Amino acid sequence: MPHGGALYTIVRFSRLPPMPIKLRTGEDVERMRVAGRLAASVLDMIGAHVAPGTTTDAIDRMCHEFIVDELDAIPAPLNYSNSPGQPPFPKSICTSVNHVVCHGIPTPSKRLKRGDIVNIDVTVIKDGFFGDTSKMFFVGEPSVLARRLVDVTQECLYRGIRAVRAGAHLGDIGHAIQSHAEANHFSVVREFCGHGIGDVFHDEPQVLHYGRPGTGIELVAGMTFTIEPMINAGRRHVKLLGDQWTVVTKDHKLSAQWEHTVLVTDTGAEVLTLRAEEYFP
Ligand code: MF3
Ligand code: CO
Ligand code: CO
Repeated sequence: MPHGGALYTIVRFSRLPPMPIKLRTGEDVERMRVAGRLAASVLDMIGAHVAPGTTTDAIDRMCHEFIVDELDAIPAPLNYSNSPGQPPFPKSICTSVNHVVCHGIPTPSKRLKRGDIVNIDVTVIKDGFFGDTSKMFFVGEPSVLARRLVDVTQECLYRGIRAVRAGAHLGDIGHAIQSHAEANHFSVVREFCGHGIGDVFHDEPQVLHYGRPGTGIELVAGMTFTIEPMINAGRRHVKLLGDQWTVVTKDHKLSAQWEHTVLVTDTGAEVLTLRAEEYFP
């Protein structure tokens, strides 16, 4: 079951009344658009550098320099921590390879090899606002299973986004994701979720990637949150490594994740971190 504790992507149970959810208006919507566009541009930049032999530390360094020097922005993960006792995250992006579910720490000893799948998760702060997005990369040619997992996970994200509009409910998003993952015989990680985002990294609401239609809070135009399904090839269970960050599948089978930051509108979702390569109807 979901953990208790810190406010962050870890799913919490709380007896406190839910916090009011901030709505973005005017200039702040434009600031969110800028932050989202910049975060997306980091993923565009790094694609050419994801290749066999590259270390995840080298990828981190290139992203860090691009964010700081070219974008004049701040890499939000660097020194981020959300609960007492958790060491600050030591790098500027997360790199999660193969059976790593999320929050992988870039390191010089992790060299990418042919057949790996890697999630690169980028969060930038620009003008006080956050943009958060991740995508999967193939290192060389993936296995049939790896490609199918990565593709289905992206479809899960897109189906989740298509469930967004004012008047819909959070559970509609979770249901859209869960039903597609399970129809493909994959499983949905429960311990981590999407999150409200704006002038803080991890805010209300928690956006679960599983659920039932019509349940949960009603979406209102102006809400901004992430959708970031983690989908496993095997069982859904995960474990946290001793570094207090890296999350892996318990059965060591593959996991994939894609993430966008979205703005709720009256008719749908505006995808603030959309990349040029994406076609989104
Ligand atoms: N970017 C992650 C998310 O999608 C959070 C990473 S926290 C970090 O919410 F400290 F590991 F960077
Ligand atoms: Co996020
Ligand atoms: Co992220």
